[in-house]
Amino acid sequence: MLVRLSTALLIPLLVACASDTARDPTEGFIERKPATIQDAPTIDTAAIAPANRDSVRRGEYMVELLGCGACHTNGALVGTPDIEAPLAGSDVGIALTTPLEYRFPPILYAPNLTPDLKTGIGGWSDDQLVNAIRAGKDRHGGGLGLVMPWRGYSILSDEDAHAIADYLRSLDAVEHRVPDNVSQGQRARKPFVYFGVYEKT
Ligand code: HEC
Repeated sequence: MLVRLSTALLIPLLVACASDTARDPTEGFIERKPATIQDAPTIDTAAIAPANRDSVRRGEYMVELLGCGACHTNGALVGTPDIEAPLAGSDVGIALTTPLEYRFPPILYAPNLTPDLKTGIGGWSDDQLVNAIRAGKDRHGGGLGLVMPWRGYSILSDEDAHAIADYLRSLDAVEHRVPDNVSQGQRARKPFVYFGVYEKT
């Protein structure tokens, strides 16, 4: 009975969709399963200065808990997470608009958080890192794009924020440059996903 009822409801809906001439926001997209990971790689703390060990362990715990790898590890948004290069940046970008709002939305690629000097955070000071995590600032004090959930991270204590910085510094450096961010109106050359909640009105 329930099945019949829902079929009956579905038919007018399909007819309504067929007569809708609005652009299909899913055009050009294929359905992929998110491969979200929360894992933060374990550091061999024997190689870390004893005074720093607790902080690095705490940082690992925080990074895992806060899910930094869900955006900053390649393949974690869609596909297969690259377990060889955790937190080394994502080649899949994130557009933070509704697909209906802009045909070519701004897109951000979560950067490499390993301490590589050229492509990662190797040249960042602790304060710059803490400022990025808690205040959404880039190295030069400019605002990071809205994708990074720093507003939630702004309540981190100094100790926890510095522990995250200590942990990121202790990761193996991976040389991996993520694609350049894309400005609104530019056509993206690399893959991206949309984040957001869409309500049909
Ligand atoms: C929802 C996805 C997402 C999550 C979760 C996330 N980030 Fe980010 N992060 C981004 C994006 C996208 C950028 C790039 C922003 C830009 O270019 O404007 C970024 C930028 C950064 C930067 C600046 C790096 C640079 O080279 O510019 C740091 C540092 C950073 N994130 C650290 C973290 C840490 C640490 C966590 C976890 C506590 C975290 N992020 C969680 C998406 C995310």
